[in-house]
Amino acid sequence: MQVVVVGSFNLDHVWQTDSLPAPGATLAGRYHSGPGGKGFNQAIAARRAGAETAFVCALGDDAGARLASHLAKADGLQLVAHLSPHTPSGSAGIFVDQQGRNSIVIGAGANAELTPAHLVAQDTLFRLAKVVLAQLETPIATVHKALALGRAAGARTVLNPAPANAESSAELLALADVITPNETEFAALIARHTALQIPAEAVADASDAVLHSHCRTLHPGGSVIITLGSAGCFVSHGENWHDDTRSHYRLPACPSEVVDTTGAGDAFNGAFCAAWAQQPARALAKHLTFASRYAARACEAEGAALAMPQLAPA
Ligand code: RIB
Repeated sequence: MQVVVVGSFNLDHVWQTDSLPAPGATLAGRYHSGPGGKGFNQAIAARRAGAETAFVCALGDDAGARLASHLAKADGLQLVAHLSPHTPSGSAGIFVDQQGRNSIVIGAGANAELTPAHLVAQDTLFRLAKVVLAQLETPIATVHKALALGRAAGARTVLNPAPANAESSAELLALADVITPNETEFAALIARHTALQIPAEAVADASDAVLHSHCRTLHPGGSVIITLGSAGCFVSHGENWHDDTRSHYRLPACPSEVVDTTGAGDAFNGAFCAAWAQQPARALAKHLTFASRYAARACEAEGAALAMPQLAPA
């Protein structure tokens, strides 16, 4: 197994509207539903980017679970699901405006029932992993266990600290070799874990020296990749990083005919981990360039998991 993703599956209910709803507004929109959840989106992206991938999650006994299982089978994704008979699968309400921007509300459902014990039962899977990837839509103790099992097995560990308002701890961050916040998540982590402050709107335009210094304070033992949408990404390494002589640098985004940015970060994370697992000796910057290209393509189609392209690193 090259990539093990631990995380959420959601049934996404999506409305495409002219603008995002303001408080008190009633809007008409075009509706569709489809598979999503940060964990599932990232697992599908990793698989479609060419990596043998397993996805460990919790599902209800419902249409959402059947959709997850059908799509996983069609994609050759190994689905390792704890079934919660009395709790529905996770769900999300998503509004997408004409510029492809979104607002999302999630209902955790069965995602909240994925426990550390469920992961321990899959110990063999973790022992085979090259990269373990998790996000924050499942309980923090479970995410902690996922990264701890990955690290104990010698896998690379990646934490996508999303969504921004989710709980995290210094111990959790320390278990990740790489963390991949977007600018909102980065600002939230800085506020939560350091004595520093940086507004989310100021992250993309901050000087490289300031960003690097914030990253080092936040995650002294590991690397930080801040995804910045159309501004690309910022990379900050600690002293122990050896594949690049640069301690920090920026990479541009790939041009994209944006239709829907839902799951863009998931596309980036899944593709990055797939590329890293498949070619571990290659420079990280090459994997990130591929991940940007992958995410740009994912934004050109509607939806989350179903928008992930079949595109492997060269
Ligand atoms: O990152 C996008 C995802 O966030 C959606 O698919 C939705 O389910 C929420 O988890």
